[in-house]
Amino acid sequence: MKYILASNWKANFTFEEAKIWFESIGSKYNEVRNEVRIIAAVPYVYVHYLSSYGIVDVFAQNVSHVKQGAFTGEVTVSMLKSVNCKGCIVGHSERRHIFGENDDIINKKILSLQENSMEIIFCIGEKLEERKEGKTKEVLFNQIVNGLKDFERFDLLIVAYEPVWAIGTGVPIEIPDLIDAENFIRKIFKDNFNIDNLTLLYGGSVDKEFVKKIKQETTMNGALIGSASWKPDGFIQIIDNFINA
Ligand code: 13P
Repeated sequence: MKYILASNWKANFTFEEAKIWFESIGSKYNEVRNEVRIIAAVPYVYVHYLSSYGIVDVFAQNVSHVKQGAFTGEVTVSMLKSVNCKGCIVGHSERRHIFGENDDIINKKILSLQENSMEIIFCIGEKLEERKEGKTKEVLFNQIVNGLKDFERFDLLIVAYEPVWAIGTGVPIEIPDLIDAENFIRKIFKDNFNIDNLTLLYGGSVDKEFVKKIKQETTMNGALIGSASWKPDGFIQIIDNFINA
């Protein structure tokens, strides 16, 4: 089983804090790298510097859907590639719902990453009202099928199931609901793309306790973690609990 623990920094960390985090997690990683892959999704401005540490895999949290040209302020896939960025988060609910990114934009970003052989953490997840209305499966299906139109490089793909209502609330999903969503997502990939070894992470209020349940009670491949991963000591505890679970 291939395990991943990915830290999504979001819009946090000064440069000094970023270096401290990388030094702490980097020395921990030397002990555990055979058991778990660690990824840090960092703000654009730190990608180049942090990639040069060469220990924890550096991802971006976003990328432009345009390839190049007169698009003031955009950061493109080829720019990220040229500073040794390994991959990028795409479709995070904060991009979808705060910045209005739709499936079409998300698909363009994914195809652009594919063209450059960069890895993709593709986030999907339903909103609370969608869950209450019984639309969870329909929402996940549409996000997957629309986001992955014309996509072929499944070796580059990591999917993160992040129910929107569980992000930043301190309340993760219940395990039976996670198992249900996991089975459904894996079936979508099997039925539509003939993929039966999908790398699938859970995200949404993961902490040092929930990470044990993910490992013990599901067949998910790990977690995408926000706030509980921002302090190095907290993330080290999460890594230890996951490995020892
Ligand atoms: P929290 O772990 O802070 O809920 O954030 C989850 C997330 O959005 C990871 O991408």
